[in-house]
Amino acid sequence: MSPARLLRRFGVRARLLTAFGFLLALMFAIASIAWVGFTQLGDAVKELQRESLLDVERSLRLAQQSSSLAARAPAVASARVLAQIDSESAELHRRLGAFKQLLAEFEGDGLARNKANREEMARLRDAGARLAETLLELMQVSRQSVFHVSQVRALRYRLDQIDTERLRVAGLSDSGNAALDYAIRLMGDAIDDEAADAEAQRARFNRLALPALQAWHPAMAGANLAAELIRLGTQTPGVYDAVEDRNEDQVRRIYLLSVVAALAGGLADEVAANVEHVRRGAVRRGETTERALAENRTRIAILGALGLIAAALAATYVVRDLGGQIGAVTSAMRRLAEGDRSVDVPGLGRPDEIGTLARAFEVFREHAARLDQTTRLLETVFEHMNDGVAVFDASGRLRACNQRVSELYGSREVLQPGMSLQAVRRALGAEDSVRRSLSGDTLDAAYVDRARQYGRQRFEEYLPNGHVLELRSTLMPDGGFVTVYTDLTERKATEAQLAQARKMESVGQLTGGMAHDFNNLLAAIIGNLQVVLDDAEGLPPERRRYLERALASAERGSGITQRLLAFSRKQPLAPQVFDLNTLVAGMLDLLEHSVGTRLRLVSELDTSPLPVRADPGQLENALMNLVLNSRDATPDGGTISVRTRPGSTHLTPDGSPIEQVVLEVADTGSGMPPEVLERVFEPFYTTKSGGLGTGLGLSMVYGFVKQSGGDIAIDSRPGQGTAVRLSLPRARPPAAVSPDDPAEFAGRTVLVVDDEADVRGAVVGQLRALGVETLAAGSVDEALARLADAHVDLLLTDVFLGAGDTGPQLAARAHARLPTLPVLFSSGHDLGGLAERGVHVAPEHFVPKPANRSTLRERLAALLGHNRSAGTPLL
Ligand SMILES: Nc1ncnc2c1ncn2[C@@H]1O[C@H](COP(=O)(O)OP(=O)(O)OP(=O)(O)O)[C@@H](O)[C@H]1O
Ligand SMILES: [Mg+2]
Repeated sequence: MSPARLLRRFGVRARLLTAFGFLLALMFAIASIAWVGFTQLGDAVKELQRESLLDVERSLRLAQQSSSLAARAPAVASARVLAQIDSESAELHRRLGAFKQLLAEFEGDGLARNKANREEMARLRDAGARLAETLLELMQVSRQSVFHVSQVRALRYRLDQIDTERLRVAGLSDSGNAALDYAIRLMGDAIDDEAADAEAQRARFNRLALPALQAWHPAMAGANLAAELIRLGTQTPGVYDAVEDRNEDQVRRIYLLSVVAALAGGLADEVAANVEHVRRGAVRRGETTERALAENRTRIAILGALGLIAAALAATYVVRDLGGQIGAVTSAMRRLAEGDRSVDVPGLGRPDEIGTLARAFEVFREHAARLDQTTRLLETVFEHMNDGVAVFDASGRLRACNQRVSELYGSREVLQPGMSLQAVRRALGAEDSVRRSLSGDTLDAAYVDRARQYGRQRFEEYLPNGHVLELRSTLMPDGGFVTVYTDLTERKATEAQLAQARKMESVGQLTGGMAHDFNNLLAAIIGNLQVVLDDAEGLPPERRRYLERALASAERGSGITQRLLAFSRKQPLAPQVFDLNTLVAGMLDLLEHSVGTRLRLVSELDTSPLPVRADPGQLENALMNLVLNSRDATPDGGTISVRTRPGSTHLTPDGSPIEQVVLEVADTGSGMPPEVLERVFEPFYTTKSGGLGTGLGLSMVYGFVKQSGGDIAIDSRPGQGTAVRLSLPRARPPAAVSPDDPAEFAGRTVLVVDDEADVRGAVVGQLRALGVETLAAGSVDEALARLADAHVDLLLTDVFLGAGDTGPQLAARAHARLPTLPVLFSSGHDLGGLAERGVHVAPEHFVPKPANRSTLRERLAALLGHNRSAGTPLL
């Protein structure tokens, strides 16, 4: 099984959930990695910031403090008073303490994390310590220096005093004065020169001044001064020791200051190195962080790309497979909704929800197609049914109706849904119609409209145009009602005709019987009178005239009875086939002569021959009667038209078609009111007074036409003339008749049995063309009934008669009663085909279907010939 198919076994929901779950997990992984990575990065950055800044800050503080330490050194070195030295040294001590504390901090918080750092810190610490020691020494030297300076100052002061006293010593010799002055100057010079070499000065004093002083006699003036100068110059500590101490201090201070400067410089370098180290560490850590960031970026990018690919694949799958299928089903649904029932539903075989949806939709489509068919069928039936149908809602407004409603009322208006009952009536032009209940009571239109909304109603509507409609209303289950309009015009006319025919029938039977008897009586009277008249040569002429009058009356009576017999269709006829046009044309002279000159006789004869089979003498008689009636109805002149034309085709009760030929006599005379029209065929009904009419003219025509298989119809309105139409069955056209001898099968009757009415009609037509009388039946039972009722010379039956019946079965049942009845089988199968179906028929008893006429004639001739001569069994 392919992966796609395997996947389809899971539901769409499961697949979507799996896809989304997978994507969610992927996103979660990406987010987690990103979160962890960035947290680490954040920590690293924080650490970087913390360490770097702290390091930098401390390095700066170290630099600051070391430089501030170094900066105090000159102040300490240059201090000349103890108080200043004390304050400077206190400050220096404070700064030293802070510096040492800073160093201790450096070591304590792990700044010295690696060996390099440790070494660096050790160097810093050493440098700091050396600086501190040097500074302390400087302080000490400064303190000493203050003491030595003040000592020198005191000696100087004494020298200055001696110098003054010298001048006041009485008796001091010049040389003694000079020696004193020289010694004072030498010592003064040593004191004033801070850079002088004290030992060299001392040696100079000892060499140049001391001898003179030592040579001083104690008794000599100024001896005390000389002695003091010797003391000052030679004793320890004397001037030169003090100067030496002072000058040494000075040198030492300068030296220490330079050491401080050098140490401060070294410390600054160390600090700078430390700062540089910190900077490098920061850069390194920054690079590490950057690397970690890059790694994270790569990881996230890879996962992101994977996620994108997975999402793209999932989206492609959803769009292609699910979306595509759902889209296809949706578009199929849309096409279905637009009326396309032939739409193909995709995805029917899928095992998932889309498949279920497609299958449900397919069922829906089939239902819709069936519904469409049903709806179309119903619409077609609704629109083409013979009856009108209109549906009204509970408030009497039209909801729907078919075209037939308007047609039945002869209205061209289109009825619109929503029209009220009154509006519908107006549109149909039925305001002047008369509505009657079934019992014949006239009904009010408003009453009818109301009644239709409350219950089942049935009434008749007589339209002004003479049409009669039946309206049947039934209530609808959801309110309102439906009315079915049926055209009763024809039925009413047929009913009237039927009533008329029945009346004529009964009158005919009555008059026929009487006429027959009278005819016999009159025949006897006439016969006897003629015998008497033949033998009445000896009778006086007067008596003879009586006899002749009696004979004439009897003959007139006989004429009347003849016409009565004609009316009651009992007169013997001599039918022939002839062309109606020829007959009418041959009579026109006589007719013209009969109508006289007041009237115009017009003939309109059909151009084609109209063969009829009738008694030509009787037809001439009938035509004469009709023309005379028209003449009598047109006393003030007018036109009488005699017309012939082909008529419509009727079906006989056995389904065979019969063409009609029409002979019409129309006049522009007085016409007839309905009450006259109703009775014109009654014997002895006449409106002609004074013995001008017998009232037997139309009766005779009626009887003759009916007896000849035709019909008669009269259109007449008072003042508008009359048209009388005789329809006679058209005889076979001479072309069809000629090849066969019409007499060959004259008087022979064949029963045609076929379950298909069309085939039956065709065979009947063929047989009639051969001059055979036919009977027809559509089933075995009907055929047996016909055989029982009438004389049949031959049974022509289809082999397969439907409902499982067969021709051979029918033949067997017929032979039970009529063993000699010849049978001819017809079938669409040939004999072989029939044998395959278990039916065995002899070739001489078989005609193929359709049979050609010569085969049919041959078979008939063979079978009927047999029948006539011997009546032998047939199968
Ligand atoms: N063409 C016609 N126009 C007007 N009325 C007619 C016409 N034909 C027949 N009728 C009426 O029908 C009645 C019966 O006619 P029918 O021919 O049977 O008898 P009749 O003409 O009165 O007598 P008869 O034919 O014996 O001379 C007539 O009396 C006449 O009132
Ligand atoms: Mg008449």
